[in-house]
Amino acid sequence: MACKNIILIGFMGSGKTTIGRRLAKELEGYRFVDMDADIERKAGMNITSIFEKLGEQEFRKMESDMCKELSYAKSCIIATGGGIIKNAKNVDLLKKNGIVLYLKASPEHVFRNIKDDTSRPLLQCDDKIGKIKQLMGERTLFYESQSDIIVDVTGTNAKRATEAVLSILKGDRIL
Ligand code: S3P
Repeated sequence: MACKNIILIGFMGSGKTTIGRRLAKELEGYRFVDMDADIERKAGMNITSIFEKLGEQEFRKMESDMCKELSYAKSCIIATGGGIIKNAKNVDLLKKNGIVLYLKASPEHVFRNIKDDTSRPLLQCDDKIGKIKQLMGERTLFYESQSDIIVDVTGTNAKRATEAVLSILKGDRIL
């Protein structure tokens, strides 16, 4: 039986990929999809090179194309890129066959997760925590308004966050 997709949205470093992978392992019949990894495969280069060589605007187009493709998918746990909410049409497309779950995290939680990361072009600057706070300030309302369910993962680890998500999905009879 084909099931609704579970779409994870949230800021960079909130755990969408790690939690998504764990959820797909726990849930029989579901497949994990990492949107950024699919975009990289299609483009034949990593996100940093896409931003450098083609620019952010081109990346956003690729992201929107991927949302169109995935709007036809079934029984998937989809980890989206943190900027997906910049275009409300992206989330509308994914919602056609899915429930959107926002993994909410504080700037400090995100900073702890990504402080040594070099793969996110938007956060390659000296004042990482400042940049996280700025972008989060611009985006939080969009994450909140575009999601069906909000799970605060601040201060938890991937295992506990996955358990919390599962219990909410089961409690809401989505699974
Ligand atoms: C971005 C988030 C990244 C990636 C790109 C842009 C953003 O994905 O799509 O670097 O604008 O927030 P993650 O949220 O998986 O890090």
